[in-house]
Amino acid sequence: MKNDTARFSDSLAATARDIETLLDQLLSPAALSSETVRPPRLVAAMRHAALDGGKRLRPFLVVETSALFDVDRTGALMAGAALELIHCYSLVHDDLPAMDNDDLRRGRPTVHRAFDDATAILVGDSLLTLAFDVMARAEVHPDAAVRTTLVLELARASGLGGMAGGQMLDLAAEGRFENKRTLSEKEIVTLQAMKTGALIRFACNAGAILGKADAAARTSVAIYGSAIGQAFQIADDLLDVEGDTKTLGKAAGKDAAAGKATLVATLGVDKARARLNELVEEANAALASFSKKSDTLRAAARFIAERRA
Ligand code: IPE
Ligand code: IPE
Ligand code: MG
Ligand code: MG
Ligand code: MG
Repeated sequence: MKNDTARFSDSLAATARDIETLLDQLLSPAALSSETVRPPRLVAAMRHAALDGGKRLRPFLVVETSALFDVDRTGALMAGAALELIHCYSLVHDDLPAMDNDDLRRGRPTVHRAFDDATAILVGDSLLTLAFDVMARAEVHPDAAVRTTLVLELARASGLGGMAGGQMLDLAAEGRFENKRTLSEKEIVTLQAMKTGALIRFACNAGAILGKADAAARTSVAIYGSAIGQAFQIADDLLDVEGDTKTLGKAAGKDAAAGKATLVATLGVDKARARLNELVEEANAALASFSKKSDTLRAAARFIAERRA
């Protein structure tokens, strides 16, 4: 009998393979019937941004929360691919010289380094737009009302009051736009719930939307999603301090120098790790009503806390 951790690794690897295949098809050089042409340089740069790398954790969460509600895996994967396109776009723009100015991502040169800044901006625009094209497709779910809800929730998670808004708060906290001010713990939690939490929360809620879950189940999944979303950024910030560039596939040790607002900077490493562990407990407690069915999601929460990359 395999233990939960081994089952989790197998499921994550299986979803990552399926997502790779889907993204490869979605980013095909051939234009769709209602498109004109797909410029080869833009396709190549989008493929550089989206293929062959990344943990694919967000699609995995869509697939696994969908499984709680016996949702068809094919539709869940398509919704997961849409979300991964948004995530990849957020990384391309996050790395731009005007934002975090990073040269390495997923062990390769960032898109603006491998191509150029203008191409990287257009890669972001095009991945973001493609995500909504994909989420609106009938393959996601036969019921158009379900797809509309997914599109609406994904838009809210990605935009002004979600990921993009959180990125704004993240840059503002560096003191770029006015004098630097130390953020309170509460402000940091809000910033991170937006820049990282919103997409992870959406990943979990997507399974409940696809599965037309009842209100109680939706609440449980939403609590799980919020807790692991928070945990995910704390782990990322700890890895910036404790990890190394080679293992991470992105530059380590940059947040303190950039003056990033993180709980690691505010609370210190030990307290931040304790908070991370509490969040994993909180996430897993929220899944109690799903019993054995949610073992893989419980293993996912532990993975988020313990990951090395
Ligand atoms: C990195 O996300 C960006 C953050 C939100 C902290 P991931 O750690 O999920 O990046 P990939 O997709 O595995 O490269
Ligand atoms: C990024 O946070 C969050 C995004 C919305 C992409 P970070 O800036 O900490 O992510 P990394 O460390 O560059 O992956
Ligand atoms: Mg950033
Ligand atoms: Mg960054
Ligand atoms: Mg980081």
